[in-house]
Amino acid sequence: MRWLRFALCLLSAVDIVLIYYVEAVDRSNFKTCQQSSFCRRCRGVQPGKSSYELHLNTLKIEPSSIEVEMINTQNGARFRFQLFALQDETFRMKINEWAPLKPRYEVQYALQGEPVLNKLTVIEKTAEFISVMAGANKVTVHAIPFRVDLFSGDQLVISVNARGLMKFEHIRPKPEQNEAGEKIEDEGGPHIDDTLSDPGAWEENFKSHHDSKPNGPTAVALDFSFNGAHYAYGIPEHADSFALKSTKNIDPYRLYNLDVFEYELNNGMSLYGSVPVLIAHGNTHTAGIFWLNAAETWVDILGTADQNVVSSIVNFVSGSATPPQVDTHFMSESGIIDTFFMLGPKPKDVFRQYTRLTGTTPLPQYFALAHHQCRWNYNDQDDVRNVDNKMDEYDIPNDVMWLDIEHTDSKRYFTWDPVKFSQPTEMINNLTAKGRKLVTIVDPHIKRDSNYFLHNDAENNDYYVKTKDGKVFEGWCWPGSSSYLDLLNPEIRSYLSSQYLLQNYHGSTLDLYIWNDMNEPSVFNGPEITMHKDSLHYGGWEHRDIHNIYGLLNTVSTYEGLLQRSDGKLRPFILTRSHYAGSQRYASVWTGDNTAEWGHLQITIPMCLSLSVAGISFCGADVGGFFKNPDSELFSRWYQAAAFQPFFRTHSHIDTKRREPWLFDEPTLLLIREAIRTRYSFLPLWYTLFFEHEQDGAPVMRPLWVEYPSEVATFALDDEYLLGDRLLVHPVTQPGVSDVSVYFPGTQDIWYDINTYRKVQGGGTVKIAVTMSKIPVFQRGGTIIPKKERIRRSSALTHNDPYTLIVALDRNGSASGTLYMDDGQSFDYREKKYLYLSLEFKGNKLSSRYIDTARYPTRSWLERVVILGLPPGITRAQAESKSAGRVTLETTYNTETQSLIVRKPAVSMAEEWTIVLQ
Ligand code: NOJ
Repeated sequence: MRWLRFALCLLSAVDIVLIYYVEAVDRSNFKTCQQSSFCRRCRGVQPGKSSYELHLNTLKIEPSSIEVEMINTQNGARFRFQLFALQDETFRMKINEWAPLKPRYEVQYALQGEPVLNKLTVIEKTAEFISVMAGANKVTVHAIPFRVDLFSGDQLVISVNARGLMKFEHIRPKPEQNEAGEKIEDEGGPHIDDTLSDPGAWEENFKSHHDSKPNGPTAVALDFSFNGAHYAYGIPEHADSFALKSTKNIDPYRLYNLDVFEYELNNGMSLYGSVPVLIAHGNTHTAGIFWLNAAETWVDILGTADQNVVSSIVNFVSGSATPPQVDTHFMSESGIIDTFFMLGPKPKDVFRQYTRLTGTTPLPQYFALAHHQCRWNYNDQDDVRNVDNKMDEYDIPNDVMWLDIEHTDSKRYFTWDPVKFSQPTEMINNLTAKGRKLVTIVDPHIKRDSNYFLHNDAENNDYYVKTKDGKVFEGWCWPGSSSYLDLLNPEIRSYLSSQYLLQNYHGSTLDLYIWNDMNEPSVFNGPEITMHKDSLHYGGWEHRDIHNIYGLLNTVSTYEGLLQRSDGKLRPFILTRSHYAGSQRYASVWTGDNTAEWGHLQITIPMCLSLSVAGISFCGADVGGFFKNPDSELFSRWYQAAAFQPFFRTHSHIDTKRREPWLFDEPTLLLIREAIRTRYSFLPLWYTLFFEHEQDGAPVMRPLWVEYPSEVATFALDDEYLLGDRLLVHPVTQPGVSDVSVYFPGTQDIWYDINTYRKVQGGGTVKIAVTMSKIPVFQRGGTIIPKKERIRRSSALTHNDPYTLIVALDRNGSASGTLYMDDGQSFDYREKKYLYLSLEFKGNKLSSRYIDTARYPTRSWLERVVILGLPPGITRAQAESKSAGRVTLETTYNTETQSLIVRKPAVSMAEEWTIVLQ
């Protein structure tokens, strides 16, 4: 009998793996809101008078917060309401049960530290409401019914519970444990809400899976209305438009980290990551909320978005309609209500406010911004060597080779296949000799195999996640039967971190970096391909409470490990699939298993923009599409698009045809090579933008409305974006086109085609002709972009190479920009061992000046300056610097493009210098 059960179990696992390999998306594997009992209950609350009230007579006022008792008049349940004033126009609101039967989970690890408090002043208090001020903001808390209004200056920007959709299911004893029988009494009186009549309240089935729900119904839900907002954005990860759609007649957006096989486009189904951050933007104001909850969450988007948004916006702008508004409704299965309000008023204020809470992406190593070559799988070390050599043979720069799961000894991470990868160190050193790196995959499932040290350690030390009955949780993943480290436990995380140390990860070197995949976690035979919600973690928390941070914890361990491995000297590089708010502090994110189809190329833009506005700037998508085989046109266009997206990696499924560029026809090979080389020429800009991102939190890849907040035409664009405030990118993402319609923002702005230097006036849509080699990218007049135009095998080899500056003039003949440089790899930059330059062109004079310090002694010099939009008449240029004195320079003026090239100024970039045109 036992044997039979074992055989059946094996069979089902094989089936499951097969299903995983061969079938397209099966929606029935994933819940709808109707199939998720808490979502059904929360969504069932009708707008109207809320049953939640505050007892203002219990009000306690502290220097930075207020606290007051709240009651649900329907059932007498009591809650503690707290409002905190935080630094930088931010507020935090917490609502928890007054005296829960069991503690409710409060999310750890997402915030970068305890938020800094601000002083709060009570400005008015009556029996009905209390108003407080902090910074430039007023918050009014209404008692009956409960509602909170947050103002920025005089403008109401966010209202909480204005639609009365709040629901907070307090923990109660299981009915059968209650002597009173069916009707349950608790401290507040008889229940008359419908929570308990829901058949899924105390246990729930989905397909063949049972959720025992030992705590019963514990959902929390609340509505937030954004006054004056035209659209809401964020709450990644979904394969959908950037501006969130109305969910009135469809399912809400779902946030529950899942491994979705062959995901579909244009819907709000869950994907691998969840960042519960929503940014609402209107032409007068930007604001955001951060719903700090790690349980399964659904978000409804309603309000103005239900009408014809564009016409309502146009009417509003022309003064003939009521202000636009976006209404949202957040619903989570457990935890507490813990919400941050970022009150703007401008987009960049909101990004700064949010990243002060959860942190920014630390400056990546220079190589991480270059090109990455990956495939499931490079077969063996010879294959790696060949691909690496071919890159050189075909003059294609590359910085990183990647190894997927097949490099391991039977899917035991931190090991190498003894035959195919018998000489890992030598393999890495071969790459390093050309300035390249290696990335290997480390998934969080652990093969249950008594020949695996990690499994033995985990068993011996009781490191695994448990089932509801306290047994070790077992699930199926790549290695077959697997268990999962309980990453909620700090001791287990340090154990995992220590595996990355060079003495433990045999064959690795400091030039090996890490890819954390399948960390939702993916469990092939689990409910919705993940872990059972009633599984148990450290501290007695159910998986239900912490599901969405499991992947974050995985990257926390990896980051710590990589940091310790180099004694804190080198910046870790990690790629993660699963993510949560705060993941940006540890890892870059890619959009998972996409498909070689044009729609999937198109969706890379809204997907990465959504991640970017939610704090995750280092984002990319598998170039070429993971599933299926791209044709030449799609493949080339994908490289061209990705050359201007932050994380640039080619990757493909094991069943696809090999697709290294030289396996395509020559024209395609040349297009791909050119796209990659273009990326390399812009690396100094990428590096500068990421440095600045670490300081101010503004997304690197950003929607146009960040720079043009009142330009309504930019609000719903899905096919173009900006890099910093300098480049406008509108890649070709349609087959067979000979032109693309590019919207150029800014009626006062001029844009310059980066290839032809042709000028385009901002403030409208212009058709741009595109040949196969064209990547439509435009530099904003008024900016200066640093480039390195000597293309080599890897970015490391260009470290001391000279710079080119592209100076694009605005209508006043001026431009400015910055350039950042350092050693490209260490944390020394945190001690200001860098060179950060302010570049300015004004009155025909270009100058470079230090911003704050000059503590990186670069050997790079200035090779060329190109000035765009310069009227004719310049005949002479002269450079001046301390060490070289005054030198007369060679110039060439092109009347057609109105551009001047200044050749070989040869000033050292380590010095301040000036170039004067006469
Ligand atoms: C799933 C990942 O999304 C994919 O990129 C990877 O190749 C496979 N797992 C195998 O590791």
